Amino acid sequence: MEYTYDYYKKSADYIRSVSGGFQPELGIVLGTGLGEYDRNIENRIEIPYGDIPNFLVSTAPDHAGKLILGTIEGHKVCCMSGRFHSYEGYSFEQLALPVRVMKVLGIQRLILTNAAGAINTSYSVGDIMVIKDHIKLTGASPLAGPNIPEFGQRFFDIGNMYDKELRTLALNCADATSLTIREGVYFFFTGPQYETPAEIRAARILGGDAAGMSTVTEALTAAHCGIPVLGLSVMTNMAAGVLDQPLTAEEVTETSLRVAGEFERYFTEILRRLL
Ligand code: HPA
Repeated sequence: MEYTYDYYKKSADYIRSVSGGFQPELGIVLGTGLGEYDRNIENRIEIPYGDIPNFLVSTAPDHAGKLILGTIEGHKVCCMSGRFHSYEGYSFEQLALPVRVMKVLGIQRLILTNAAGAINTSYSVGDIMVIKDHIKLTGASPLAGPNIPEFGQRFFDIGNMYDKELRTLALNCADATSLTIREGVYFFFTGPQYETPAEIRAARILGGDAAGMSTVTEALTAAHCGIPVLGLSVMTNMAAGVLDQPLTAEEVTETSLRVAGEFERYFTEILRRLL
């Protein structure tokens, strides 16, 4: 499949047509842990992914699969409730779609949330990590294939992809929550299997603080088209091999439900202080 600017514009045109030309400024992708946060969006218009031409279909459990347009804390947002992952069978190139569609709609900043396993043994379950940088050792990229110059250049810098100002803002909001706020490196694994203890030891040696299966494709796509990103990870579990117990999806869900209320308050504070 060769993607063109018009391919993404077709999705964006549909979204505009059913939303009375709504122009979002802030993109939000809600992962495990903030799954229900979208209920706080006011003057909302909900669009199931399945209605949007060329959009992808969400298959992951706990991911609703709809786009919500509206306002929250004074921001005009386009919020994805439910995201797409490579473990669902999507190619990295396909995973560029949601952020590109949001770019065509007009977003200028993007906040990504996810659940992750703590590699850093000084972290605890329930901590939040502001993503400072990431490591992705799989060769695949969402920007592979013919470059689309309307979005950005063929070769581009990703040294400040997780925007310093947004990170500082998120770290400063630590004063408004009982959660422990960290800053660290997100280590991407494709999943769907959790990692081996040896992979987590290797990731730790390489500088990873948290392991997860999402976010990097969205962040890279945003970087390509010049959108600053804020990434927030909930430590839903200690990563493989840290504790002498198997990893389960139930633990991930259980922790994310347990911290959801406080994470929502923290997230709202970030939006409140975001100018
Ligand atoms: N590894 C990868 N992805 C995850 C984990 C993990 O330990 N926990 C939640 N998402």
